[in-house]
Amino acid sequence: MTAFKPLVFSGVQPTGNLHLGNYLGALTKFVALQDSHDCIYCVVDMHSITAQLVHADLIEQTRSITAAFLASGIDPKKHIVFNQSRVPQHAELAWIFNCVARIGWMNRMTQFKDKAGKDRENASLGLLAYPSLMAADILVYRATHVPVGDDQKQHLELTRDIATKFNNDFSGRIADLGIGVDMMNGDEKVNGFFPLTEPLIEGPATRVMSLRDGTKKMSKSDPSDLSRINLTDDADEISKKIRKAKTDPEALPSELDGLKDRPEAENLVGIFAALSGVTREQVIADFGGQQFSVFKPALAELAVEKLAPISAEMRRISDDRAYVDAVLRDGGERAGALAEATMKDVRRIVGFLH
Ligand code: AMP
Ligand code: TRP
Repeated sequence: MTAFKPLVFSGVQPTGNLHLGNYLGALTKFVALQDSHDCIYCVVDMHSITAQLVHADLIEQTRSITAAFLASGIDPKKHIVFNQSRVPQHAELAWIFNCVARIGWMNRMTQFKDKAGKDRENASLGLLAYPSLMAADILVYRATHVPVGDDQKQHLELTRDIATKFNNDFSGRIADLGIGVDMMNGDEKVNGFFPLTEPLIEGPATRVMSLRDGTKKMSKSDPSDLSRINLTDDADEISKKIRKAKTDPEALPSELDGLKDRPEAENLVGIFAALSGVTREQVIADFGGQQFSVFKPALAELAVEKLAPISAEMRRISDDRAYVDAVLRDGGERAGALAEATMKDVRRIVGFLH
């Protein structure tokens, strides 16, 4: 084999409501990639139990994220939509990756440090090993491209480190079995079993910030609901949250440079650009010199126009539970067949007798 077939994989955890950051940082990219690539989109329910083991409504949350995927425009017939726990090969490969990766690599992950907080000794072992499962999600399909928000960059670098170490550690076996693929690692030509996955992190909204504090990421776990726009918010809530969004007293600058040290203004301009599909320069060209009393209503109108149809469609799809479950079942079967094909080779490489 000479090259990996391009394949897109990404995952979203079924914990909490999806918000504008997830939508702009992830979902809109998932949708855009469908025209040019084969895509696999996964609701990563196994990741959800790493930070909190018992959830009252994990099944409902899994359905709700699936409904958001479908409402955003992901086509589950052309592509694959499923929930992670249906395909146990993810866990099987994650175990092998736990033995490839080093504890030091995991300890360095900023997401682990943030989520574990001060009491690291008391974090679950699963939370520490989270990136190993994430690498398995991607590599069990030998996916080549992963669209994510900026916060996942470090995890994707680790995914490449795991692929590289696996390819090196087992290079003899991979060569003996004749199942290696030639690829480039920077300028160097290498042969290995797993691809070195490329992150896809671009656009004006790779890191959407809190509406209450422009230095903090918009997040599902922020205690203030005013900090984020949820995909389930109605038009009134969206308008209210934008009206109340923190800003500074200055007008918008007439040059992009003028957004430096104005994190709240920069965030709102980025959101406007991403929602309207133009550059931040264009937004500044249109609104430079205007007060927030003019810009905020325009942003609210745009956000309602773009998000209201999605939340209506999400509600409609969520009501059809049989349809959502059928999508996940069908996607799980197709994903399972692909994952098993990879694992047959991986078991031979590692030396497991089957
Ligand atoms: P999560 O909800 O943490 O599973 O994240 C799902 C996807 O949304 C991932 O690709 C994240 O990188 C992305 N994401 C989460 N929060 C933000 C944000 N504030 N801005 C941009 N992307 C985000
Ligand atoms: N860690 C990702 C997040 O919190 C979710 C995720 C799990 C993921 N597995 C993945 C993203 C594989 C991309 C590819 O957002």
